[in-house]
Amino acid sequence: MLPKNMFSLKDYTREDLEGILQRAAYFKKNEGKIFSSLQGKNIAISFWEPSTRTRLSFELAVQKLGGRVIDLNPTISSERKGENMEDTVRTLTSLGAHALIFRHNVPGFLQKISRHTEMPLISGGEGCYQHPSQALLDIFTLREKGVNLAETTIVMVGDILHSRVARSHFLALPLFGARLILVAPPVLLPPELIPPGVSYSYHLEEVLPQGDVIYLLRVQKERQSEGLLPSLGEYAAVYGLNEKRLSLLKEKVFLMHPGPVNVGIEINYKTLKRLKSFPTRKILFQEQVQNGVYVRMAILDIFVAGRVV
Ligand code: CP
Repeated sequence: MLPKNMFSLKDYTREDLEGILQRAAYFKKNEGKIFSSLQGKNIAISFWEPSTRTRLSFELAVQKLGGRVIDLNPTISSERKGENMEDTVRTLTSLGAHALIFRHNVPGFLQKISRHTEMPLISGGEGCYQHPSQALLDIFTLREKGVNLAETTIVMVGDILHSRVARSHFLALPLFGARLILVAPPVLLPPELIPPGVSYSYHLEEVLPQGDVIYLLRVQKERQSEGLLPSLGEYAAVYGLNEKRLSLLKEKVFLMHPGPVNVGIEINYKTLKRLKSFPTRKILFQEQVQNGVYVRMAILDIFVAGRVV
């Protein structure tokens, strides 16, 4: 039996995740068909941190399943007048919400509000803690490309310290047998963060040739208040993907990024443009976004509409 809420992938088995991915594949295959598993259901969406991909794809997913979106926009909600989250959730329930999709900057916040409601809570990303639907859509995208994760090395480069995406992959990728190598400057890759069995390096050029997938993570400028990095320019020079480093990549390689991309930091503009002309070195950024809709449809179908997988 699946947990009621989706905060983290830690409570899931490979079989559970396969069920979600298979359902997502079904929705993708049947694009254009009308679905109604959320008919009559009101899904509240509330994002307390900026988002384009996750928020819009969850909205689309609700609509594609025939549900209605209740948009709780924090900038104009009664929280601004002092209402606490417990009362806000109670209000949503009184308005007939059947589920809440939530993004917040404080890790543990979803857990806290789950104590005040019976409706399922789905994470849309929680501080530096977890972003479960992102990890699932990444895995979906790779498998769609024919990647056998058990035979795949993923080099994850960037701001691991602040990355909820990385933390969700720490839970998901081992279930599929993928080998993960983390790369970042030491300040963004503290040893205590590295999960058992995961390799790491502080030298991008050493590990780039090993990657079947290069997963770039955004440098989270908004979470760099501690002044961890001397400068973004220096980061880009040492850890950014540039034309010189392209020659170190395998002939066949996939480039991924959860978005939004800081062009000029994680990857420079010329390299991005050049990669688009390679037949076997493929950028999957837009496919990740597209697949996010199907994966989120699957999550809602299972967690809110109650489909058994
Ligand atoms: N990947 C991701 O979470 O993107 P958004 O912040 O645009 O939702």
